[in-house]
Amino acid sequence: MVSYKELGLVNTRAMFAKAVSGGYAIPGYNFNNMEQMQAIIQACVETKSPVILQVSSGARKYANQTLLRYMAQGAVEYAKELGYPIPITLHLDHGDTLELCQSCVDFGFSSVMIDGSHHAYADNVALTKKVVEYAHAHDVSVEGELGVLAGVEDEVSAEKHTYTRPEEVEDFVQKTGVDSLAISIGTSHGAFKFKPGQKPEIRLDILAEIEQRIPGFPIVLHGSSSVPADLVALVNKYGGRLEEAIGIPEEQLRAAAKSAVCKINIDSDGRLAMTAGIRQVFAEKPAEFDPRKYLGPARDLLKELYKRKNSEVLGSANQA
Ligand code: G3H
Ligand code: 13P
Ligand code: ZN
Repeated sequence: MVSYKELGLVNTRAMFAKAVSGGYAIPGYNFNNMEQMQAIIQACVETKSPVILQVSSGARKYANQTLLRYMAQGAVEYAKELGYPIPITLHLDHGDTLELCQSCVDFGFSSVMIDGSHHAYADNVALTKKVVEYAHAHDVSVEGELGVLAGVEDEVSAEKHTYTRPEEVEDFVQKTGVDSLAISIGTSHGAFKFKPGQKPEIRLDILAEIEQRIPGFPIVLHGSSSVPADLVALVNKYGGRLEEAIGIPEEQLRAAAKSAVCKINIDSDGRLAMTAGIRQVFAEKPAEFDPRKYLGPARDLLKELYKRKNSEVLGSANQA
């Protein structure tokens, strides 16, 4: 049993309270390896932004949970070494069982998501409540979810969005005791969020209705990559073939961040940045075979992307 407090990590409570009153969102950035971690911490230190480091089930399979947790622990010291200590949360992304959430709490995570959104409402409430009881006993924050995002979410996939029903949120929050609520308003995971010809638009009207029902309660948006055209162009210029990749327009995310949304999850945009950086080196220097020579530039591109997100989209810069 390790407490996140011994590791220098923080839960999301103070972070979210500040974000809600300040009208900005904290970045929820996923990481799977050292270069992503370095880029995230460098970007957040340079922009003086708090950060939520997210570990998905894919990340746990790929990188090993122990290594990822030690990396997050190291990130606390790394930020100080870079010259500015920032609040860092280590968060389980899309936890699907009570046992997994419990094991992460026991292992030093400071926040967990229990994603019961695919279950019937009553089952989602019951499962989320159990996770909250365990996590809160250890002062760990819990994110729940209501509504189903279209597309692939780890191993589960849904054809269409099931938007969050505003009439359920108050009851869910009150019965479960969650610290934040992920909602479905038209975002989705991955780089292909809208069909060509479809207007890329999220339902800010539903968000406003939810906010009215639970004023001041922290709302989370998953699937919030904007799939920047310049990154897609760079990937394609250097031999990639990403066709019709469409994300959430940044001005809509900016509007959401100014309202009740206090955490915005971004992973796919980071994948695009790293892929663009690596492809460029491979295309321009085919004789290069030192991983540092292609992972380094990819890391730099990722850092610049996240600095821009913090400053221009989420508004989390200068809030640490
Ligand atoms: O929730 C989705 C995240 O982008 C993580 O995806 O399970 O492939 O790591 P992953
Ligand atoms: P994107 O695929 O839009 O980056 O979303 C990531 C996410 O929601 C992680 O939980
Ligand atoms: Zn997600």
